Order: sequence, then C-alpha cells, then structure tokens
Amino acid sequence: MHTLFPTLVHSARLSRTGWRGLNVRLLKECQQLRHDDEAGRRWSAKNYPGGFTSYNSASRMHQLSPTFAALERNLDRHVAAFARALEFDLEGRTLAMTDCWVNIMPRHVVHSLHLHPLATISGTYYVKTPKGTPGLKFEDPRLERFMAAPPRLPMARPQNRPWFIIPAEAGNVVLFESWLRHEVAPNPVAAERVSISFNYSWF
Ligand SMILES: [Fe+2]
Repeated sequence: MHTLFPTLVHSARLSRTGWRGLNVRLLKECQQLRHDDEAGRRWSAKNYPGGFTSYNSASRMHQLSPTFAALERNLDRHVAAFARALEFDLEGRTLAMTDCWVNIMPRHVVHSLHLHPLATISGTYYVKTPKGTPGLKFEDPRLERFMAAPPRLPMARPQNRPWFIIPAEAGNVVLFESWLRHEVAPNPVAAERVSISFNYSWF
C-alpha cells in the first residue's frame, strides 16, 4: 500500500525547558496588548466577537517585543525541521516570519474555518490552555472532491479521517502549510485560551 500526497502537520514542545518562563512573560504581554491596543479591540469586536486578536492591528509582534522575538528564534528551528520533513527545495532562500499576532478566546468565542493566504508555513503557539479549551481542527483539503465517497469509520486512522483535532497544550507549537483549512470550535469553558499565531514566507 502506498501513502500518496500526505498532509503533514508538525506538533511539538517548543523547547525542552525554557518554555514555562517564556510563557509567563508572553501571557503578561498578551494581556497588556489587549489593554493597550484600542484599534485591535475595535477590530475584534466586529470580526472576532467576544475575543481579542491583534491580527489587524499589531501583526508583527516579533518586531515590537524582545519576548516575541525570543519566541520567533525558537519557532525558526521548528519551521526549519518542518521544511525538511516536507522536503521543500528552498533554492537557497529562507523561510522567515512575516506576521505574528495574539489571540485571546474567552468563553463562547469561536474561530471559524479559514486558511492563511500569502504565506508558506503557518502555525500557532499555545500560551495558556485551561482544561477543556478546544484544540485546532484541520480539514482534509480534498474534501470537495469526495463527492459520493463513503464516510470513514469513526475510529479510522488519523490519516484516513476527513477532520483531525490537535489538542491545545501550553508550550506546544503546531505548524502546517498555509493553504490547509482549520478552525477552533467555540471555547466551552469559563477561562481564556491564549495563543500566538504566525506566518512564515519564502524569500
Ligand atoms: Fe489560523
């Protein structure tokens, strides 16, 4: 049996130790940003009801904050490993972080299906994930071609399922190719889920 055209998703601990201390500093800065970023709060009220995202206001946090720059240095290693696993021929060019923004999801906030246009590799790093907060749900990119294909068994192997959820876990980084559609289900718990999303592009 051949496994052709796989969709790779990278999920790993950011670093062996350091991530706990980094998360304490990141959490403080995420909360401070929500407090300071009035434009972001306004944009979120329209586009991310109940939540806060700096996607449209402070989307290059790695260039504004040394703490986020430290996160970027850690993520660079993961992105390089992911690019090796994908066997990208980068032709001597590099994959570099272009965008990096904050997401805070209180109870009932949802992030519906989307992809990340104009980027190569995208991902999320988890800062705070109280028990019960939702993970990252990926959709089979071939779904619209399945037409009359039968459904899959509920316990089918992950590679044969039409959707797959990677749990949100503080200290973990998840990477995927930017064209892969994903979503976060409504947060059912009365505690905030804090994550940092980012794009890498090929220069
Ligand atoms: Fe996303």
